[in-house]
Amino acid sequence: MNQPCHDQLKVSRFFVIPEKVGHIVIILIRIGMLVSLVASISLVLHTTFFKPDHWFRLPEHLHLQNASFIGTGDSFIDTGPTNISHIQFGLGGSANTWRDRSYYSKLWWNPNTTRGFVWLDQKPRNLHSESLVPFKISRGWRQFKHLHSASAVRIARIMYESFKLGLPNVRWFVMGDDDTVFFPENLVTVLGKYDHNQLYYIGGNSESVEQDNMHSYDMAFGGGGIVVSYALAVQLARIMDGCLHRYFYFYGSDQRVWACVNEIGVPLTHEKGFHQLDIRGDPYGLLAAHPLAPLVSLHHIDQLDSFFPNDTQINSLTKLISAYNLDPARIVQQSICYDHTRGWSVSISWGYTVQIYAMLVSAADLQMPLQTMRTWRSSSNGPFTFNTRWMNPDPCQQPAMFFLDRVKKVGSSGSITGYKRFVAKGGDKCKGSDLSNVEVQRIKVSALKLDPEYWKKVPRRQCCQIMDGGNIKGGKIHIRIKKCRPQETTTM
Ligand SMILES: *[C@@H]1O[C@H](CO)[C@@H](O)[C@H](O)[C@H]1NC(C)=O
Ligand SMILES: *[C@@H]1O[C@H](CO)[C@@H](O)[C@H](O)[C@H]1NC(C)=O
Ligand SMILES: *[C@@H]1O[C@H](CO)[C@@H](O)[C@H](O)[C@H]1NC(C)=O
Ligand SMILES: *[C@@H]1O[C@H](CO)[C@@H](O)[C@H](O)[C@H]1NC(C)=O
Repeated sequence: MNQPCHDQLKVSRFFVIPEKVGHIVIILIRIGMLVSLVASISLVLHTTFFKPDHWFRLPEHLHLQNASFIGTGDSFIDTGPTNISHIQFGLGGSANTWRDRSYYSKLWWNPNTTRGFVWLDQKPRNLHSESLVPFKISRGWRQFKHLHSASAVRIARIMYESFKLGLPNVRWFVMGDDDTVFFPENLVTVLGKYDHNQLYYIGGNSESVEQDNMHSYDMAFGGGGIVVSYALAVQLARIMDGCLHRYFYFYGSDQRVWACVNEIGVPLTHEKGFHQLDIRGDPYGLLAAHPLAPLVSLHHIDQLDSFFPNDTQINSLTKLISAYNLDPARIVQQSICYDHTRGWSVSISWGYTVQIYAMLVSAADLQMPLQTMRTWRSSSNGPFTFNTRWMNPDPCQQPAMFFLDRVKKVGSSGSITGYKRFVAKGGDKCKGSDLSNVEVQRIKVSALKLDPEYWKKVPRRQCCQIMDGGNIKGGKIHIRIKKCRPQETTTM
């Protein structure tokens, strides 16, 4: 009963506040309005200058160095799909080695579409006139202290120098060595999955666990390629020289970039197609059972056995790239199928090799690389960052192996690749019940071009089918690679 009265009393008191108190209230209201005015002005300023499209304006000191970049503001609203023109390459080279190593870049660099430079320590004498990659001389790197090699500082700084050029419409900076072979179409496919306006650091680590232990599992190893989004490049450019001073005791250039990226706090986005190839011996096992991911790069090519037996490495790469040019997204992708009548297993690495086993081997085993290689540092049998199967040194206990020897375009979107039997030394003496007891000399593989969009979804290994009921005509069989039916499995 008392309650309403009490309230009424309060209300009436409110209306009879003394004049002095009224003044204070008005002042308080004015202060409040002023505060909210300031708040809204700063909000407007904040959204103007910090909305994503403007995030990656050049830092102040770089504006001063190259004012011409400011004029390219319209690149910031380009939201079309990523293509090769959005990538700026920066290859680490030296005047001494570039002459010989420019050979590798010739395999993949298309001067009409590929942008970027090889960065050299000094002007090279007698350059190959046909060298495709334009060069630049690194500057300003000699001022940095270093414990191991000065060139590691120089090469880490390519990141900064590439950015500083201020070329228009760059979404991604890709660093590699002068002996890195990139597969640019697949690089574009992979980068197309990511937003260059965000802070991305993309690459792969070493195949040898000992190397990852010594350096880092979370580091993009430089030979396989280090990718930095434009947004991250802005941040890196600001701190790079400081980093180079702080981490003078590091060994490699990739480690220095990694240390800087870590100061920004960005983790590695690991893509399985980047290959440092920190392995020795024969990379066959890995390339014959590549992870289900587009092939982006190969490195340490000089240090490895030729990819194709009894051939030079340059010829090997030329062959591999001839298939890649026909169907970039499919290169070295594996398909597995069986000839149940004969009890054979077939594993295809498209554009590279086919293995036939005269026995049934599970898909789980076939997708595991044969251990044809050793580790990088200690030449041990492992461990690697992938599982391996033991490779019997007796050629009769190895599968029958076939290597790419022909590629042919069929219609607008098909291909036929031909693979020829290779008999290892001593393998001609195999008899009766051996694993390689397969009376096939040539394999024809037909496939439809793999749509790069395939790599934007959850990947699934494609299926294959032995054609003509498994008939062997003149030592030849025909296999077709196809999308698996929804319920289809690869079952022995
Ligand atoms: C600025 O960039 C342009 C190319 O966009 C280049 O020609 C020029 O040399 C650069 N200037 C400086 C000072 O780096
Ligand atoms: C790449 O995309 C840009 C637009 O984002 C376009 O102007 C350019 O022509 C494209 N280049 C190629 C090589 O497709
Ligand atoms: C580059 O363009 C020229 C002129 O259009 C053409 O003749 C040449 O074949 C192209 N080169 C490559 C590697 O695509
Ligand atoms: C290796 O190549 C040479 C020359 O091309 C050829 O005569 C020889 O038969 C090849 N050896 C094997 C094992 O294929």
